[in-house]
Amino acid sequence: MANVFVVGAAGNVGTRLVSKLVKGSHHVVAMHRKEQQQQDLEGRGARTCLLSITETDVPTLASAIKGCDTVVFTAGAGGASEELTNKVDGEGLEKTVDAAIAAGAKRFVLVSAFPDAGRGKKISDTFENYMRVKRLSDAYLAESELDWVILRPGTLTIEEGTGKVNAGYAIKYGDVSRDNVADTIRAIIDNKALTHKIIELTDGDVPVDEAIGKFV
Ligand SMILES: NC(=O)c1ccc[n+]([C@@H]2O[C@H](COP(=O)([O-])OP(=O)(O)OC[C@H]3O[C@@H](n4cnc5c(N)ncnc54)[C@H](OP(=O)(O)O)[C@@H]3O)[C@@H](O)[C@H]2O)c1
Repeated sequence: MANVFVVGAAGNVGTRLVSKLVKGSHHVVAMHRKEQQQQDLEGRGARTCLLSITETDVPTLASAIKGCDTVVFTAGAGGASEELTNKVDGEGLEKTVDAAIAAGAKRFVLVSAFPDAGRGKKISDTFENYMRVKRLSDAYLAESELDWVILRPGTLTIEEGTGKVNAGYAIKYGDVSRDNVADTIRAIIDNKALTHKIIELTDGDVPVDEAIGKFV
């Protein structure tokens, strides 16, 4: 059983993850930024923490994380302006890494982006900046002292999860349901020995626990 602090808990991946972690007997502290999200997250069985990653500072965030051994970062500005992407996906991740270290949390799971996203398409400056920031965030976490796992999902869908994925160090690009992403994060948390891995993820044919178990 882990004590998990989730940044971005009210999001599409975050809410699914909260439910799966609670079902798996983990304790969850769900960080969210709007008061109206509290009831849903508590209904899923989480304790809640009302904070905005852009407004908070490292000491405040560290106090909120205190008591948790694992942090998941699945927040994102959702393709908004470059400024907001830099603040949430970039500086927000860096603050969370620093706060996790200050709070004594050892494990950190980051939902990043697949390097091939956008390949072959005409991409906007905003998207190019998003990929740049995600990459810098990966590097920031990978250089830290934490036991990290970086997950790079393909294009996220809202299809019902199949419980089956393709997970590897280098795989072909594709879609992955947010439900399967949440299940994969749950499996990473269940595999305590899994650390220092960058995992690419799409929907696939292998049951999630088997797919993640092979990295240990
Ligand atoms: N879309 C794709 O195809 C794709 C592919 C690969 C990776 N990803 C990454 O996957 C992650 C999760 O995706 P998703 O679909 O779950 O995204 P989502 O539904 O947009 O969830 C992101 C969460 O981050 C929260 N957030 C934004 N700004 C915040 C702030 N200042 N303080 C605290 N929380 C804040 C949002 O809060 P609110 O609910 O209040 O808005 C939201 O709950 C994102 O990091 C995204 O970059 C996406």
